[in-house]
Amino acid sequence: MRAIIQEQYGEPDVLKLAERPDPKVAPGEVLIRVKAAGVNPVDWKLGAGYLDAMMETQFPIIPGWDVAGVVEAVGLDVYDYKVGDEVIGYVRKDWVANGTYAELVSANVRLIARKPAALDWNEAAGLPLAGLTAYQALNRARVDKGDTVIVHAAAGGVGSFATQLAVARGARVIGTASERNHDFLRELGVEPVTYGEGLVERVRALASDGVDAAVDCVGGESVDASRELLSDPSRLVSVVDPRADEVGGVNMWVRPDATDLAELSRLADEGKVRVFVDRVLPLEQAAEAWRLSREGRTRGKIILSVS
Ligand SMILES: NC(=O)c1ccc[n+]([C@@H]2O[C@H](COP(=O)([O-])OP(=O)(O)OC[C@H]3O[C@@H](n4cnc5c(N)ncnc54)[C@H](OP(=O)(O)O)[C@@H]3O)[C@@H](O)[C@H]2O)c1
Repeated sequence: MRAIIQEQYGEPDVLKLAERPDPKVAPGEVLIRVKAAGVNPVDWKLGAGYLDAMMETQFPIIPGWDVAGVVEAVGLDVYDYKVGDEVIGYVRKDWVANGTYAELVSANVRLIARKPAALDWNEAAGLPLAGLTAYQALNRARVDKGDTVIVHAAAGGVGSFATQLAVARGARVIGTASERNHDFLRELGVEPVTYGEGLVERVRALASDGVDAAVDCVGGESVDASRELLSDPSRLVSVVDPRADEVGGVNMWVRPDATDLAELSRLADEGKVRVFVDRVLPLEQAAEAWRLSREGRTRGKIILSVS
């Protein structure tokens, strides 16, 4: 199969297109013919070696954790999926080696769910990792109807899902973004505020009592601002900044979860969650996708189209 590989940690330029053996399919796994692979900041962070202290890696790495595709084969004792099923997955395995930037990827059934029919392949590939992060962050922050929630980096991959999911739960959502994204956020039912100095005052101008919960996808000043705006610090969930733990909140790392993913798929089919695709690039331009992602200006998702 064709795959993107990296033989060492480094900058996006380390990525290259190569021929690799087709993956084996273990018991409990399916083999997925990849239609599209979602790009996430963690892909290039891993690729640069930033997570080396906590994740086992086996070079050459095929990067990528997000996938949408068609089941091509099933392993022993797989009774829940059959050849031809359309699936999505957050394919984070126990070690980093055979990811989704490839024509084929194997995945345990614990990591996948049925593809929402309402989404095309590119949209579907953008849903798993960022969607699960948003969904689990809202759960950890106990976001419910009537809450006022702030989402930091509301226009990004995780943020665009967190805002929509919070609105769907009946929350009032305030989202931080640069001004070029304010109309986009309004379309999602979000009250936009510009980040940077004076953020707390700008939020208080909208919500004088502050907020009930916060989902942070930025870190640093957004943790401090959230702490000031929250009366209950345990309802701060940061997916980036370990300091959230120190101020009484939660520093969260998304878990692969087939039940949560199926729920997201259902919400997408109900039209409650849309996937905003910023850019689609062919598989061979994975390095360019990483460069774009590293700029930190993505609205929604960057996707690699594979077949
Ligand atoms: N712990 C976990 O489980 C987990 C899971 C997923 C992601 N993450 C991490 O969470 C972060 C966000 O991920 P993502 O996929 O959402 O990234 P992303 O899509 O690349 O985020 C891009 C967005 O960030 C916004 N942004 C940039 N600087 C900002 C600031 N200072 N304040 C507010 N918004 C700002 C940009 O909006 P403007 O263009 O308007 O500035 C842009 O829309 C990354 O660091 C990622 O590694 C962690």
